[in-house]
Amino acid sequence: MKNEPSRTAEMVCLYRAAEQRRPEHERALDDPYAKWFLGPLTRTALLTLEATGRLGRIAEDRTPTGLSTYIVARHRFIDDALGAALDAGAEQVVLLGAGYDTRAYRFADKLRGKRVYELDFFATSRRKQQIVAQHADELPDVDVVAIEIDFLRERIADVLAVVGFELGRRTFFVWEGVSMYLSREAVKSTLDTLRTLGGPGSQLAMDYWFLLDSADWLSTIRRASASLLHLLNEPITFGIHPEDAPAFMERQGFVVEDLADADTLQRRYLSADRSVYPACFVLTASAARVAHSR
Ligand SMILES: C[S@@+](CC[C@H](N)C(=O)[O-])C[C@H]1O[C@@H](n2cnc3c(N)ncnc32)[C@H](O)[C@@H]1O
Repeated sequence: MKNEPSRTAEMVCLYRAAEQRRPEHERALDDPYAKWFLGPLTRTALLTLEATGRLGRIAEDRTPTGLSTYIVARHRFIDDALGAALDAGAEQVVLLGAGYDTRAYRFADKLRGKRVYELDFFATSRRKQQIVAQHADELPDVDVVAIEIDFLRERIADVLAVVGFELGRRTFFVWEGVSMYLSREAVKSTLDTLRTLGGPGSQLAMDYWFLLDSADWLSTIRRASASLLHLLNEPITFGIHPEDAPAFMERQGFVVEDLADADTLQRRYLSADRSVYPACFVLTASAARVAHSR
């Protein structure tokens, strides 16, 4: 919800914070800052998870929903893509619906001299900035610009233009955990905008939700649990099947480079006993037609 800090942003942050309680060699992701962004409820949840120790981790890994595992694995997928893009010469990074994403700090070395633009509703953005300011002494010095926006009402190009975003430069866009809360029109128009903002070599990493069409009880529970997001005032409104995503992206002017569904994420980043929520997938894509050249 736009007037209050996003609860889903805090939930996914809880999952990233909870990954830190695993021994280093078992972690799919390393986000030491995630715990700072938890509120009273999610902090209590983290303490409870920590207290359950190894048995708690085994129980979590056996829980069939696998949502926490998906959240951690998609973040790792995008981390890897971001790291590779920065190595390959990406000059700026844009996080759309940034929530409590800490990549600006975790990738500080690779980002030296490069700016990160973080866009979100004002309430989430302000809360994040306050927490970052409280921990300023513990964080590396980075060039982050926080931008308050409502994607459904304001144009990304307009808000970026006034804060020094360099049109036509090689950009890495992250759009993680957001498309499912938008309308189809908003997703299409955002893709259209991103295609025109970045220069040659720009890339987008994003994920999609889709409706599981199996009638078995587990799929039914998973469909029902997705509907529960309505209770957090962040209902799921858009989905697309992974088989259809490359053609959809192509119609918006993007070529899908890598697409990881639940099985792929599980194989790449997780031990065999950790199941991944199967109703989402993550991808990287690059613009097929670049509007600007430098
Ligand atoms: C599930 S959270 C994901 C946060 C972050 N990308 C991550 O993965 O940790 C979704 C984020 O999108 C933001 N968001 C959703 N709809 C938005 C809109 N219309 N305008 C701006 N931000 C929006 C929410 O405030 C929230 O921070």
